[in-house]
Amino acid sequence: NAQTNNIKLDASKPEITINKHIYGHFAEHLGRCIYDGFYVGEGNKIIPNTNGVRNDIIDALKKLNIPNLRWPGGCFADTYHWMDGVGPKEKRPSMVNTWWGGVTENNSFGTHDFLNMCELLGAEPYLAGNMASGTVKELSDWVQYVNHNGESPMSKLRKENGREKPWSVKFWGVGNEAWGCGGNMTPEYYANEYRKYATFMSSWTNDKGIFRVASGANVADYHWTETLMKNVPKGLLEGVALHHYSFVEWNKKGSATSFSEDQYFRTMQTAWRMEELVTKHSAIMDKYDPQKKVALVVDEWGGWYDVEPGTNPGFLYQQNTMRDAMIAGLTLNVFNNHAERVRMANLAQAVNVLQSVILTKDDKMILTPTYHVLEMYKVHQDAKLIPLTVNSADYTYGEKSIPAVTASASLAGNGVTNISLTNIDASKAQEIVLDITGKSYKNIKGRILTSKKLQDFNSFEKPDVIKPAIFKDAQLKENQLKVKLPPFSVVVLELI
Ligand code: AHR
Repeated sequence: NAQTNNIKLDASKPEITINKHIYGHFAEHLGRCIYDGFYVGEGNKIIPNTNGVRNDIIDALKKLNIPNLRWPGGCFADTYHWMDGVGPKEKRPSMVNTWWGGVTENNSFGTHDFLNMCELLGAEPYLAGNMASGTVKELSDWVQYVNHNGESPMSKLRKENGREKPWSVKFWGVGNEAWGCGGNMTPEYYANEYRKYATFMSSWTNDKGIFRVASGANVADYHWTETLMKNVPKGLLEGVALHHYSFVEWNKKGSATSFSEDQYFRTMQTAWRMEELVTKHSAIMDKYDPQKKVALVVDEWGGWYDVEPGTNPGFLYQQNTMRDAMIAGLTLNVFNNHAERVRMANLAQAVNVLQSVILTKDDKMILTPTYHVLEMYKVHQDAKLIPLTVNSADYTYGEKSIPAVTASASLAGNGVTNISLTNIDASKAQEIVLDITGKSYKNIKGRILTSKKLQDFNSFEKPDVIKPAIFKDAQLKENQLKVKLPPFSVVVLELI
């Protein structure tokens, strides 16, 4: 019951770097992501923590080589006033989190808490600035507060609040989903506003420079990207965002764990759409920026389903199955193969929300199947992309078909070639014949992530149902590699 697929790998000229920032994450003040997720409070004597941040989460994310973390939103970002989250915690004002559950936000996790946490993680912070309900001054002051080394009103305040040296934050979002929760703007209006905000962010020098990301298109809104690229002068723009989620049907998302093959297939169709979106948005950017100076930043992606039964609908807490592992494997292969333009991305969201890599319950923490994919794929971070030509068999369901196999390859700094492969077909295995030119290899080893059922997941009672295992179904003979991928599996091979 296996189909045949052909892949050609030309190892002679790996040139483009797969930016490690493609493997970024996202932490929003949403549900149990920050509070009762990352942050359990300084006074917590039960859950081991550093300055209130869970040590087990820090360790797990460090093992992914987490390159960057986006914060504080999402939709929340355009309601957030950073000044409310600095200074003595008992004096910080509260606000209402109007987007996510209407809960009271006491601002006990603010700028210092987040940026210090990023230092613990070894991750670059990516701050999402408030454009819709903030002011130019407020955002410019935030940049000054975290980045200015000299004497200025904001650096003085930072020092009074206990931090002498600036954090040197490079990555900044200028509003979020400006077409929707971030102000319902037209692209023309947003582009003008962006120019104004971006101008006043650049005055506060730091050793890393500034990388400003404009709020980008909703899925296939190509007019949005075109308008930004046309109307924002080059020197003001380093990245353009894009958001795209995978789901069964937006208004009828269905359970995260109990789904039919029909629902699985439809989720895979929307996941595959990332290839088309990235290709088409990149083509528009090429028109205005042929040298590819501006990055396409997919700063929200992942699977989105109904919340777990009995949980707050505004908290977006969902479980994570092999379906999510397939979304992750497929999407990251798409990003790797488009590494020349896609230079940053953020999986939504790191802990206890949408396609999370980590779930927590009281003092327990589990790693989801998605976590394991990110861990297996970390070998691609900052490696050189090796172009592949993939001739995939179809995964057919009813009348519809999508390619069953995705692949990407890279040459790491240690001389190892890594190939990541996914077979999204729910029932058919894939035989892969991979012809190699430009290099000869002697040894091969690999790991696989799969399970008995697509619907399997790791729970607090059984945390290791899905975890990587040694993969043995790959044979290397001279310049040909033969691989057999079981149904719904993710494999990473190491060639030396
Ligand atoms: O990730 C959840 C939400 O999805 C984000 O806050 C928003 O940007 C998007 O619509």
